[in-house]
Amino acid sequence: MVASTEFAKAFGAALEPNLDLASPNRNLAPLTARIETTGHLAVGGCRLADLASSYGTPLYVLDEASLRGTCRAYRQALEQHYPGPSLAIYASKANSSLAISALVASEGLGLDAVSAGELLTALEGGMPAERIVFHGNNKSREELALAAGRGVTVVADNWRDLELLGELAEDFSQPVQLMLRFTPGIECHTHEYIRTGHLDSKFGFDPDQLEIVLKHLAGCPWARLTGLHAHIGSQIFELQPHRDLAGVMADALQLARSLGHPIRDLNVGGGLGIRYVASDDPPSIQEWVKTVAEAVLAACRARDLELPRLLCEPGRSLVATAGVTVYEIGSRKEIPGIRTYLSVDGGMSDNPRPITYESQYTAMLANRPLAAATETVTVAGKHCESGDVLLKDLALPPATSGDLLVVFSTGAYNASMGSNYNRIPRPAAVLVHGGVAELVQRREQPEDLLRYDVLPSRLMPVT
Ligand code: LLP
Repeated sequence: MVASTEFAKAFGAALEPNLDLASPNRNLAPLTARIETTGHLAVGGCRLADLASSYGTPLYVLDEASLRGTCRAYRQALEQHYPGPSLAIYASKANSSLAISALVASEGLGLDAVSAGELLTALEGGMPAERIVFHGNNKSREELALAAGRGVTVVADNWRDLELLGELAEDFSQPVQLMLRFTPGIECHTHEYIRTGHLDSKFGFDPDQLEIVLKHLAGCPWARLTGLHAHIGSQIFELQPHRDLAGVMADALQLARSLGHPIRDLNVGGGLGIRYVASDDPPSIQEWVKTVAEAVLAACRARDLELPRLLCEPGRSLVATAGVTVYEIGSRKEIPGIRTYLSVDGGMSDNPRPITYESQYTAMLANRPLAAATETVTVAGKHCESGDVLLKDLALPPATSGDLLVVFSTGAYNASMGSNYNRIPRPAAVLVHGGVAELVQRREQPEDLLRYDVLPSRLMPVT
């Protein structure tokens, strides 16, 4: 293995942030990414080319050390900067699987789920129900029954949640533990699709309604309101909106307690951004937690409030950098004077972020990372859609079919937002650690995609 300084030298400033062990969200590659003396790229002690031949491509590779590193960074920073109790909750929409639920649970974190699927994955993965919060702006009766029935805290997002829970309540032996989500009215700079804190949002109670809801809940014997929640958006690099949020939430806390609610938890949501390309410059996990913790502390002291338990809900900054995707390059199309397309064996079905948000990524050849990057290419996916482009204007060594491309920072919102567009099966996922790879998600097969199709007998082909 070549040490990470040489790794950085080989790829220039682009990967230099990878030397920051304490702030994994600021790295471009997983903490364990190394160039072997054979010139191959390895993650978690596993050569990516070997993984590709054993498990096929496209392949999601998840580095256990990086994931544990971010979990510990959140926990330690909370313990260091917040004098009261605290809990970091993994927003599992970023990447939901049994293995990730189990890993995150083993690191002592909690988990946020937004559907019966995410909830069951968390519970089956061993996440204790008392560390799970259940979100959603349109929860079904069945989802609410499942969550409340298992003792999970339900985040009440709207009147419909309260109406359904009130109807279900007689089935429960205990009052339902609730957290109340409201829109804090805070603007931040990120893609408009992933902003949630501004007033025009589908999530949470309008701040004008807060007092009315709190008074209503004070008269609901089936409900036990123990927390308040707000989330301002995702992939945010600014710290000020998080400071502002603390003040808004402390006002809400004061109001809720004055109305008799035993509020223990203040959940400030997630949103910390990560580095996808060298020019991205997010705050570190430590800086983010310090800012949030100090702001909550100051806001509570200013109002003479007993310190709540501080909850935060990171998704992307916990898992994104731990993940990479390995593709095999297939066809090559050169359009003289215009561009060269390299097509890979995946695309928008395993990573819909470029086509959805014009997201940028960093990539290199996994089997020849040290070769000089003398070409500029566009990496396209294999879907029947011109916009199915994963990377534009990528500097690469001359690459041909059979070369392996590794795309970094794909651990969040790739697998979880994936689709079967063009009936392309979902990739396998492996967890790597100390030179060992373990399959954590089997590769879907084309036949699997037919499992839920039903062909009415009158349409059966006549043989
Ligand atoms: N809590 C709540 C209530 C959320 O809605 C979210 C993200 C999080 C926590 C976690 O936020 P994070 O720490 O990951 O920023 N698909 C988009 C991101 C959507 C985020 C949705 N909510 C993307 O690919 O960029």
